[in-house]
Amino acid sequence: MPNFKVVIIGIGGVGKSALTLQFVHRKFVDAYEPTIEDIYRRQIELDDEVYVLDLLDTAGQEEFSVIHDTHLRSGDGFIIVFSLVDRESYESVPNLISQIYKVKETDKFPIVIVGNKSDLEKDRCVDFVEAEKFAKQKNSRYFETSAKLRTNVEDPFHFLAREMNRI
Ligand code: GTP
Ligand code: MG
Repeated sequence: MPNFKVVIIGIGGVGKSALTLQFVHRKFVDAYEPTIEDIYRRQIELDDEVYVLDLLDTAGQEEFSVIHDTHLRSGDGFIIVFSLVDRESYESVPNLISQIYKVKETDKFPIVIVGNKSDLEKDRCVDFVEAEKFAKQKNSRYFETSAKLRTNVEDPFHFLAREMNRI
């Protein structure tokens, strides 16, 4: 049974924990409680294969946010989350990608980029086409999710699982 480590990164408040909790426990919490560090495990079945995903939900808030190199190094795949209603969180994505490449010894790992909070459409400040183009340039795949409404929540995890298995 393939077992993969997925590391979820992104600046504070973008919805990393909300997305992870929806994926693992099918629930949404409205109150914001900054993460220090949490781990989760979920088993999924895809294409007649059972995967065990170990998920590391990291801290985005600066005071907690030393993304330890060892965490990044141990990741088999990465989900970089930004908020569709927070332009700054989108602008921070390239830097996070560089941080991963700095510590990984190979380039054989998938990264997906997730624009979260798609339910707040009227406040959107990142264009879908722009983000998708950026992801392509970075050899990555782009998804838009709403952790709140559980829209597309499974997709980035499934895509990553298949890619980690393929590589
Ligand atoms: P840190 O742990 O500090 O890095 O933050 P985080 O990225 O884990 O964010 P978290 O999941 O705690 O969500 C921050 C706030 O945004 C919370 O109040 C959530 O309820 C809210 N939130 C998360 N996802 C969504 C979403 O899809 N839509 C809306 N409307 N709110 C969301
Ligand atoms: Mg969190």
